[in-house]
Amino acid sequence: MTDTDIKKGLAGVVVDYTAVSKVNPDTNSLLYRGYPVQELAATQSVEAVAHLLWTGELPTGQQLATLREAERENRALQPDVKAAIDLIPLDAHPMDEVRTAVSVIGARETRGTLNVMDAVGTPQQNLERSTRLFGELPAIVAYGQRRRRGLEPVEARDDLDYAANFLWLAFGEEADEVVVDAFNRSMILYAEHSFNASTFTARVITSTLSDLYSAVVGAIGALKGPLHGGANEAVLHIFDEIGSAENVSAWLDTALTEKRKIMGFGHRVYKRGDSRVPTMKAALDTLVAHYDRPDVAALYDALEAEFVARKGIYPNLDYPSGPAYNLIGFDTLTFTPLFVAARVVGWTAHIMEQQASNALIRPLSAYNGPDERHIEGYVPDT
Ligand code: ACO
Repeated sequence: MTDTDIKKGLAGVVVDYTAVSKVNPDTNSLLYRGYPVQELAATQSVEAVAHLLWTGELPTGQQLATLREAERENRALQPDVKAAIDLIPLDAHPMDEVRTAVSVIGARETRGTLNVMDAVGTPQQNLERSTRLFGELPAIVAYGQRRRRGLEPVEARDDLDYAANFLWLAFGEEADEVVVDAFNRSMILYAEHSFNASTFTARVITSTLSDLYSAVVGAIGALKGPLHGGANEAVLHIFDEIGSAENVSAWLDTALTEKRKIMGFGHRVYKRGDSRVPTMKAALDTLVAHYDRPDVAALYDALEAEFVARKGIYPNLDYPSGPAYNLIGFDTLTFTPLFVAARVVGWTAHIMEQQASNALIRPLSAYNGPDERHIEGYVPDT
């Protein structure tokens, strides 16, 4: 085995087929079940995209109504979940709340499967579990933010669609249409992205015939890291550090001298720009106009222009979504939990795909530790 046999970070390794989405870095495109993500973000609801990713087709009117009804039935913040979240210290990261909440839901929903062989469930059960998680997560994410603000949870609204209800749960007031639209687009853009680190984590866990909830809990852990989902909140920390557009050059001089990673830039797969960025940047622009915050756009544009010119590294989706969520009014700490609520759709689509055509995921390693050695004085039993 030579160094070139080792694919560190699995870079460039194709491990399986997937029909859920296709990333093409050469054409800068991302397709969900064949549809360009830009077209879906412009024309569809989060619920319709969830149906597409789970079943392979956009819903008929009746199918969308059925999914919306199931999603609404699961919107309430359940007492077991609230009690578990309330045990978590207020200065713990909210991703810990979301991870714990999904664990509690998993224990509730898989009760009775004490024979570990039954945990995996049937395809129909797993579609229902996916729908339930999709329905429950907004209240969990919203409650995390509200309790850090010293506020009580608000009741879900049955008359609002998913995105509008999510904003209602978070802020306790109805959001303007332009805000709901930008938020809906962001959730669609975040819903799926092939074999990224968190999705692959979910597939690894699923490949052992563990249950869907365990796979989602593992995926949440992977998403928390700043090289993955945690980057959207890190972008806001950078914006706060820089302050305004005129400080960008000096800030970047120091950051690059210190060899810092600039969060929200770069991608393992896309090398000439993330296909989701133009759509999310357009959504950010509508929010900048709505909230009359040209300073945000100026800082965004200045950092992008200067970093791309100096390093040739382009923004990823977290770059426009961070400031967009900030303008909507979300706390920076809530950004990655929002990503969870969106990506749970992609994770569960991949979990179901893995279950349908499973092979245990178990790669090899090249050993580079000490040569064989022995415990001094040890005499084997004869
Ligand atoms: N800032 C500064 N330099 C960077 C950045 C960045 N954001 N991204 C890549 N580079 C540089 C690296 O320092 C490295 O330089 P070197 O060859 O001189 O050492 C080179 O580009 C290659 O970078 P790697 O990190 O090795 O490439 P990889 O494919 O592993 O990185 C990653 C992808 C992890 C996303 C990286 O670009 C990064 O850390 N970006 C910042 C975090 C981020 O925004 N993550 C969000 C990902 S998208 C998502 O989850 C929606």
